[in-house]
Amino acid sequence: MLNAVGPTSNSEKTVPKQPMWELPPPNPPKSKNPPRILIVGAGSRGRAFGRAIYLSTNGCVAAVAEPVDFKRKVFGRNYIWGFEEPREGEQFAGWKEFMEWELQRRERAKRGEEVPEGVDGVFVCTLDELHAEIITGLAPLKLHMLCEKPLATSLQDCLQIHKSLKPEGAASSSSVLFGIGHVLRYSPHNILLRKLLLEDGAIGDIVSVEHTEPVGWWHFSHSYVRYVQIWPVRAPT
Ligand SMILES: NC(=O)c1ccc[n+]([C@@H]2O[C@H](COP(=O)([O-])OP(=O)(O)OC[C@H]3O[C@@H](n4cnc5c(N)ncnc54)[C@H](O)[C@@H]3O)[C@@H](O)[C@H]2O)c1
Repeated sequence: MLNAVGPTSNSEKTVPKQPMWELPPPNPPKSKNPPRILIVGAGSRGRAFGRAIYLSTNGCVAAVAEPVDFKRKVFGRNYIWGFEEPREGEQFAGWKEFMEWELQRRERAKRGEEVPEGVDGVFVCTLDELHAEIITGLAPLKLHMLCEKPLATSLQDCLQIHKSLKPEGAASSSSVLFGIGHVLRYSPHNILLRKLLLEDGAIGDIVSVEHTEPVGWWHFSHSYVRYVQIWPVRAPT
């Protein structure tokens, strides 16, 4: 499809200025007060986020909530406590355990007790069907949240999430951030593809798009049921 705008013969090909696979950008300098993140679910995505935070941001992975002992320990050793023993507030057997601890921590702080530092944000990296329960459960804590896509598995759950994050009567502007991990929207190849198709009209009017994610048993097989879709799209004139 993209041949319509790319080189049509070998002689027209130009050597790319940059390699296809770029190295990750260098770490930004650490801020004095790095954002502290709790990862909920130390599975495939949780580990990817842990690594990204650790290698490429000025934030820090402060805690992990994961029921599987082995995953929690490996994650914690890699991104939180290293070869030392985990400290209070760095590991939880699940999001509910974190919630309980955090509420108590806030109570203790109110009583003037010395308490461990909490977290600024939570990344929800569990499987789809747990997202609604976790987000609505943690919403009262008013922490920044990033939830892996998809937001939830039903419209009802999405509405429930919206309500929990923005209860009726709450001020319309809030400094607490909520995001969904639609990462491909920001990937360079998709940004270019969108520009070519929608802005440059590189292949003229689009009447239909077939989007297939190449998933297999070794790669996000749980995505298979979601991503094979066909829908008609009309390019703006
Ligand atoms: N953004 C993307 O490109 C992308 C790609 C793949 C998957 N996803 C989504 O990311 C999410 C996670 O997918 P994954 O492949 O990492 O799944 P995974 O199964 O590898 O990881 C989920 C983890 O959550 C843990 N968990 C279960 N119950 C928990 C609880 N109560 N509290 C804390 N942790 C709990 C599990 O033990 C597991 O380790 C899914 O919603 C998936 O659809 C997004």
